[in-house]
Amino acid sequence: MENELKLLTGAMVTLALATSTLVIMPYLQLSDLKPPAALKPYTSAQLRGREQYIKNGCLYCHSQQPRASTQAPDTQRGWGRASVAADYYYDSPHLLGTMRTGPDLFNIGARQPSADWQLGHLYQPRAYTPGSIMPSYPFLFEVKDKADSGDHVVNLPPGVAPPGKVIVAKPEALDLTQYLLGLDHTYPAITADDVKK
Ligand code: HEC
Repeated sequence: MENELKLLTGAMVTLALATSTLVIMPYLQLSDLKPPAALKPYTSAQLRGREQYIKNGCLYCHSQQPRASTQAPDTQRGWGRASVAADYYYDSPHLLGTMRTGPDLFNIGARQPSADWQLGHLYQPRAYTPGSIMPSYPFLFEVKDKADSGDHVVNLPPGVAPPGKVIVAKPEALDLTQYLLGLDHTYPAITADDVKK
């Protein structure tokens, strides 16, 4: 009986310690975090695009968490400064990602601000980066004989669209592009002192 009591007490202490380090302490540290002034809330198109980002598994190959130069050469790679908690203020759930089969996308909106490039690259990555292993997403586009009014025709490099056809972006592709263009965290990092002000 005595041993069972020890076991139970040990288990409860372990659980209480884990809950306080993994739940309570982070909550106390981060609960009064303010959004950086330069960080804009997502527009409704960007939020729909974010859903596409999740649905199409972009997360499986792309991270959104540049690391400090003491940890990885992310800044030299052109991915921007190390991210801080406040940068994710409007992200729920955050899309940090764990794999980097492709480049980190936390600042892709600043690095590649052309909507044409983003749409074309989603339609056919290999038209922009020869040998790219990123999948193409043709189902986000329509192949048409000619564009109707209101259609967003994708401006592709020569020879990429099937001969005599135009490629029209579906709303899903346009939303996803708005989301990607909005990924810009190039403003200075918010520090603990900024939070206290
Ligand atoms: C199988 C892994 C994989 C998946 C899934 C994937 N990508 Fe990629 N992505 C890559 C690779 C590899 C590259 C680098 C080569 C290139 O530019 O195509 C890349 C490049 C990119 C770039 C250009 C980055 C830069 O710095 O120039 C963007 C933007 C991008 N991907 C967006 C997306 C989006 C949006 C999705 C989901 C719809 C997606 N990717 C899904 C592997 C992937």
